[in-house]
Amino acid sequence: MAEILSEVVALEAARARLADGETVAIPTETVYGLAADAGNGEAVARIFAAKRRPRFNPLICHVADMAMARRIAVFSPLAERLAQAFWPGPLTLVLPLAAGAPVHPLVTAGLDSVGVRMPVGFARALIAAFGRPLAAPSANSSGRVSATSAEAVAADLGTRVGLIVDGGPSPVGVESTILKIDGDRLTQLRPGGLAIADIEKVAGVTVNRQKGGRVVAPGMLSSHYAPRASLRLDAVDVGEGEALLGFGAVRAARAKKARAFLNLSPKGDPGEAARNLFSHLRALDETGAAIIAVEPVSHTGLGEAINDRLARAAAPREDETDRSAS
Ligand code: TXA
Ligand code: MG
Repeated sequence: MAEILSEVVALEAARARLADGETVAIPTETVYGLAADAGNGEAVARIFAAKRRPRFNPLICHVADMAMARRIAVFSPLAERLAQAFWPGPLTLVLPLAAGAPVHPLVTAGLDSVGVRMPVGFARALIAAFGRPLAAPSANSSGRVSATSAEAVAADLGTRVGLIVDGGPSPVGVESTILKIDGDRLTQLRPGGLAIADIEKVAGVTVNRQKGGRVVAPGMLSSHYAPRASLRLDAVDVGEGEALLGFGAVRAARAKKARAFLNLSPKGDPGEAARNLFSHLRALDETGAAIIAVEPVSHTGLGEAINDRLARAAAPREDETDRSAS
């Protein structure tokens, strides 16, 4: 089983493992990440193996400062402005890969673009100490619910990683918003921890939303973030044996019959709901319920990301190996 160390004491141990080409699970403000040296192909391959992630799905490169970011990606003036406004923070920019970027092609899945993010706190300090970008997807088995605590990482990947750094519960709770920048055209590839309205205020242009059709972020395929139970969304009542995931003050009919009940946010706050989303899904899944009924969740602010994750968790599943999720 993995060793779990508090972030207060883990920096040097984590740095040394990364330098040895190992993976380390680390806290970020969004969700826990499974990190490795982005320039080391063998290290990056260990991420894909631990997650059982298909190799066509690229990884985000995490940086400590703008100088490191500019070594791996080409920043337009608009990209600079967004980075200035929102980094460090829950925004990933998909930008042209810089010539000679110290990023192994496995990270980008051979694309000529790269997803770049500057995280908050321990993750950023670790990258600064390591001196090079870290590739890090969410620290969960491919297709499963993302981890927002060290315990959740251990329950999923504990036999497949050596070190888990414990930074407590993830303060944002959903993954970063992914934004592709082509000239002055902005496309949201994945809703996440930064609301689109906040991006539009700084950008001064409308953000296009990626819809169906061509898959631009390969991880954004149907079934994803899936618990073992199936999800029934926008539930207005509770069926026999179902668990109930609530939102706000108004309960679904027959809520008292639910075999278990957790509320994402009793006061109906999307930010609080985002923080609780993955841990509540895991906890209700652990009750063994075959179905988790989910009350309607507000679509405002982080509600867009929450509804996106719930829709993916509820999507029809084929089989385990068919989940090309991240
Ligand atoms: O908050 C987050 O973003 C977390 C933390 C650990 O930073 N990371 C995360 O990584 O959610 P992951 O691998 O679970 O999701 C990354 C998504 C995938 O859907 C992938 O397809 C997309 O980013 N992506 C990465 N590079 C891309 C690129 N060059 N073009 C388009 N999509 C890209
Ligand atoms: Mg993921």
